[in-house]
Amino acid sequence: MKTDKIVEIPNAKAIHGLRPQKFPRTGYVFANGEDEVPMVNDGSVLDEPEKYVNFFTALDGDTMEIARQVIVSGNLDNTDCDYQGKYAFSTSYNSEMGMNLAEMTENEMDHVVIFNLAEIEAGIAAGDFIELNGVKVIDGRKGQNKKYTRYVPIPNNPHGINTAPDQKHVVVNGKLSPTCSVLDVTKMDALFDDDADPRSIVVAEPELGLGPLHTCFDGKGNAFTTLFLDSQVVMWNIEDAIRAHNGENVDPIIAKQDVHYQPGHNSTSMGETLEADGKWYISMNKFSKDRFLNVGPLKPENEQLFSIEDDGMTLLHDGPTFAEPHDSIIVRRDIINPVSVWDRNDPMWADTRRQAEADGVDIDDWAETVIRDGNKVRVYMSSVAPTFSLEKFEVTEGDEVTVIVTNLDDIDDLTHGFCLNNHGVAMEVGPQATASVTFIAAKPGVYWYYCQWFCHALHMEMRGRMLVKPKGA
Ligand code: CUA
Ligand code: CA
Repeated sequence: MKTDKIVEIPNAKAIHGLRPQKFPRTGYVFANGEDEVPMVNDGSVLDEPEKYVNFFTALDGDTMEIARQVIVSGNLDNTDCDYQGKYAFSTSYNSEMGMNLAEMTENEMDHVVIFNLAEIEAGIAAGDFIELNGVKVIDGRKGQNKKYTRYVPIPNNPHGINTAPDQKHVVVNGKLSPTCSVLDVTKMDALFDDDADPRSIVVAEPELGLGPLHTCFDGKGNAFTTLFLDSQVVMWNIEDAIRAHNGENVDPIIAKQDVHYQPGHNSTSMGETLEADGKWYISMNKFSKDRFLNVGPLKPENEQLFSIEDDGMTLLHDGPTFAEPHDSIIVRRDIINPVSVWDRNDPMWADTRRQAEADGVDIDDWAETVIRDGNKVRVYMSSVAPTFSLEKFEVTEGDEVTVIVTNLDDIDDLTHGFCLNNHGVAMEVGPQATASVTFIAAKPGVYWYYCQWFCHALHMEMRGRMLVKPKGA
């Protein structure tokens, strides 16, 4: 995969949790702003936290345009949404709007914000918004407009929020509370009635252990919650937790499994979809302690893979991983079916293709053309193992140079690179890909470029020279 586009999200600061809308496929991605700032962060308000706000953003994942934002009370941590297309929900660990640890952990209860997606869209359409930095922003703060948001009290500095594949239940992980709170999405319509008790959507709150952070699901009614402080994962049954909450004498906990150590995120195979298959579970552990050879102050961490097929947990693989493992997904191998050689018509280099056509260069063929356009220089070259089409090119000190490399090799796994001395340039160019990079040739001299992907027995010889002529010479 390659990064297709990066956008800066206006107004919101520190995007933490984000999820695509599950259903229908609207293409929207919901993004939480974690850090509180003044509504207009232009320096006119500084150390006045009472004037700070946070933003919940919906962006279009296809176009990467910011669709709209909602101002909220408290900060936002993790988010998820329902399978009905009606609601998104986010945890807040700083409902206090504290500026330091003591303030952020002062209250026993924080909250989950429930976003009513249809009402927010209708509100924008009806003009009930302000425009901030080019984004339509609706006010969903507590007590502002109850159509848009609801605040459900939840203990205590909650963290992960995860929707179950039963399409009904959402598990909020208590972090400083030993509990998880189970929300019922079918009760959310009623929540938006004027006098509804905001806790009416909480249908269970099982006590699971210390430091619940994230929950995933097997698609058979069971949930798996990481317990950071206990260094365990707890397997529990959602319906049993609801029955216990209603006063029945049942223990929802099926098993507690030690993991090594302090797990954060966890994943089950296909667990974030309706095709959760209850086969595999991975624990991403934040500490390995003394398990591995000491390699210095930054230790490897530990990941553990379990089979969960037989209504229990069996450890299958256990080994070091880079510091520090964060989030992951597990999917069936048959749905991973990418191309192994790039399509020459990939939109990734459509702009470059247009420029090449304007320059009269065919980038699908052997190219060895240098175009001078004022102080801009475009250098078109091809790579076929073990050579670049250009063994050298010449520019003038101060030129803005764009090097465009097309890898004409069309063999599986035959990647080349383009790396240039002293200019901070290193590109990967996969088979049949075009890649480009722009830099200033600021200092006269001879600079070698070379392929940095081991591609051939003569890979070391796959290099050439950029000659930078002194200005005025
Ligand atoms: Cu091409 Cu190494
Ligand atoms: Ca708090």
